[in-house]
Formats: sequence, C-alpha cells, structure tokens
Amino acid sequence: MLGKAQGLPADQVFLDLEDSVAPGAKESARANVVAALNEGDWAGKTRVVRVNDLTTKWTYRDVITVVEGAGQNLDCVMLPKVQTAAQVQWLDLLLTQIEEVMGLAPGRIGIEAQIENALGLSNVKEIAFASPRIETIIFGPADFMASINMPSLVVGALNPDYPGDPFHYVLFKILEAARARGVQAIDGPYLQIRDTDGFREVARKSAALGYDGKWVLHPGQIDAANEVYSPQQEDYDHAELILDAYAWYTSEAGGLRGAAMLGDEMIDEASAKMAQVIAAKGRAAGMQRTRKFEPPVA
Ligand code: GLV
Ligand code: MG
Repeated sequence: MLGKAQGLPADQVFLDLEDSVAPGAKESARANVVAALNEGDWAGKTRVVRVNDLTTKWTYRDVITVVEGAGQNLDCVMLPKVQTAAQVQWLDLLLTQIEEVMGLAPGRIGIEAQIENALGLSNVKEIAFASPRIETIIFGPADFMASINMPSLVVGALNPDYPGDPFHYVLFKILEAARARGVQAIDGPYLQIRDTDGFREVARKSAALGYDGKWVLHPGQIDAANEVYSPQQEDYDHAELILDAYAWYTSEAGGLRGAAMLGDEMIDEASAKMAQVIAAKGRAAGMQRTRKFEPPVA
C-alpha cells in the first residue's frame, strides 16, 4: 500500500499511526512510517503522519520518533481528536524542540488538526488560531458521529427522521474557523469504499460549501474526489472570463469602471473575488481555459 500510494494522483498522503493501527502494533508502526518517509518517492505530495491523540500514552513518542527519524522528509503532523488549543500548543512546543535538536528549520513542520468530537468542535476556532503551524482543519466524521451518539453507520448520510442535513452545522463551523484563520478545510473519510456514488454524494456537500478536499481511503475514490473538488469546465471558463473582464474594465482602456456588464451579468469587485475562488481551484487542478475575453469594440 505504501509503495502504491506514491504513484497515485492524490495531493497529500498521510501515513497513519492512529486508528488504522492495532494497539499491539503501535510501536513497530513507527519504524515502518520512518522508513517509508525516508525511502519512498513522495515527490509532488504533501507528506503527513497522523500520530495518536493526546488521551493515549503513545503521542509523545510518535512525534519524537517520526520527526527525529524523518523530519527532513515530513511536511506536517496530523493531530487527531484535538479537543483544546492547549493540545496544539503542546505539539507546537515539542516540534520546536525537536527541530532545534535535529537542525531542522524552525517551524518547518506544520500541524493538521482533526476535529472529531464535541469538545473539539466547541473549541475549533481557538484550535485554528492555536499555532502558526496550523495548516489544515479536518473533519473526522466517523469519530464525531460516535462521540455525539449519532445513530447511523454511514458517514455523511441523511437521516429521514431529521428534516435537514445533520452534518451542515459541523461542516460549516469547521469551515468558518478554517477560513477565519486562513487555512485549508478538509472533509474526512467515506467508509463504504466500493460505493463511489455514495462518496460523490457526500463529497459534493462539503465541496459546495467551499471545502478544499476530502480524504480518500482507497485508490477508487481518488478520481471522484479530484473531480468533485475541482470546478466544472464551464464554471472555470466563466470565472477566468470575469477576472479578465474585470481587469479590463477597471483599467484605463476599459474606462476605469468598477462595475460593468459582462453579457447579462453585472460584475464588480465582489464578483471578481467570487470568480477568483473558482479560478484558483481550477488552476490548482491544472485546468485549461477554453474561452477568451474579447474587449467590446468601441
Ligand atoms: C477519521 O479519523 C474519522 O474519525 O472520521
Ligand atoms: Mg477518527
């Protein structure tokens, strides 16, 4: 699996020491992770290790072993089941000490915080602001559902007894905290790995809110994820067109106009900002434009 992951079109790979590792295998898993980071070819991917959460006895040694052993080849540590800002600060301080001892650039290792229980969600904004190392806030839906006693076994599924989307509040609250802090918001796993339609349906909801991406647990989910979190070609073209038109209309040549018409649509600074969001997602996904802006002929 570690070998195969290196060739897959995912933006990030995280190597797990937490819930996918049995308690009896925790100690030996650390050496496997260090070897995989140092010996694998992870070019083009963000390299992350998920350590055990701070209610266990394993966290400190996970961090020390992995960062001392492979800190040069590691981008972020993922802290699962984060409950308070103090837990992030603990990790920040430990990383600072290890970086100094190992001669790594101070602050080179980022932190991804996974929100997976009620207390973590209550404190998500403080968690997002707890350290300059925070790069990403992640929703952990499986643990979250268990933590708040949600009676379902399918992550992200609607419940006919509830007249709305039971996940809207939590998804939005995490997104709000991530955007307030200016970092990525990432949706968590979908466990029915053979049900790609189910994956798409759940992914579309967080993508529609503005999430940057979603975990995949299996190579079969990757194409769906890349597609769902990238704009449609038509929307990407439209966004680039708005940006070009806005740049032209606000220039001398375009008459220094802050508001102008593009076809039947009024564009201004705010619509240019909306277009910027879609254009940035499309460019990040490597999309190519198929339409070009033509200034109106006088
Ligand atoms: C992921 O860790 C989850 O609990 O959903
Ligand atoms: Mg979890």
